[in-house]
Amino acid sequence: MKVVVDGEEKDMWALWYDDDTDEVVFIDQRKLPHRFEIYRAKDYSAVAFAIKDMVVRGAPAIGAAAAFGMAQAMVQGRKFEEVAKIIAATRPTANDLFFAIDFMRQSMAKGKEPTTAADEFVRGIVDRCRRIGENGAPLIEDGMRILTHCNAGALATVDYGTALAPMRVAHKQGKKIFVFVDETRPRLQGAKLTAWELRMEGIDHALIADNAAGHYMRTGEIDLVITGTDRVTASGDFANKIGTYEKAVVARANDIPFYVAAPISTFDFSIKSGSEIPIEERGPEEVLVVEGNSIAPEGTPVRNPAFDVTPGEYVKAFITEDGVFPPDGLKKMEW
Ligand code: MRU
Repeated sequence: MKVVVDGEEKDMWALWYDDDTDEVVFIDQRKLPHRFEIYRAKDYSAVAFAIKDMVVRGAPAIGAAAAFGMAQAMVQGRKFEEVAKIIAATRPTANDLFFAIDFMRQSMAKGKEPTTAADEFVRGIVDRCRRIGENGAPLIEDGMRILTHCNAGALATVDYGTALAPMRVAHKQGKKIFVFVDETRPRLQGAKLTAWELRMEGIDHALIADNAAGHYMRTGEIDLVITGTDRVTASGDFANKIGTYEKAVVARANDIPFYVAAPISTFDFSIKSGSEIPIEERGPEEVLVVEGNSIAPEGTPVRNPAFDVTPGEYVKAFITEDGVFPPDGLKKMEW
């Protein structure tokens, strides 16, 4: 992804493995957009903290962090299953986390060198997201106005993105596109991260309050919705950032096509119904505290689900590295 730091343009990944120090290195997503800081994880517990505290977030990027974290733990002489248990307990919803740990488990069983295996996994994710961009770009016509929720860009996937990848490619192809960016309460990934990525890429966009999306869909200003996802079931039900379900329902009510972009690592064919997806509940402070200030009476009870489930019937198609599939025609892809 293109990043401008102190006036200098760089091409960077959201996270990588430093072979010299055996540290997992992250762009600290908690600090963007106003500060560009790097977080260096010295061991698996720091990697687990980075995932849980959302230094790194977004399903494929969480998977990449897990792969690098497992490799680092192996280099540092830890026991695979002990570390896997701790990393797997960080965030429950993203299938990529468990897919990555499993990939590393199988690689170790085959006798692969840990950092080589993790590197292969992460390069695989990056390449798959690039292909998602190529497969999704034809769905975007010149002049289209697209709504997206949360951040499913390069920060969320190491590079390119899932939902943002087709937009990146369409933009590079010279199509004039406009992106409506949901702010995405409570963590504001849209406002902080998607708006930052689109600015770096020079893609036209406007930030909107979450509750403005329905208005723009009804008034005819949105032609297409594309989101990412944390887990897709065999029936096409999917979990994504809280608020996605209501965007899908309003899109259907207004005949606006709703697409979901994801690589194979996000698909969980072991379950059918979306109600089987574990939904992470996060702490009350994310809802109660905005930019350091409490916004509700002290002691106000809070519910804070990080994701919701949208039934597959609301999805026009899934954009994957292997093609574009309707929810009732999902193909079991191979890694
Ligand atoms: O809580 P987050 O920021 O990890 O949630 C991220 C999302 O909901 C993304 O849309 C999803 O992980 C897909 S990322 C390509």
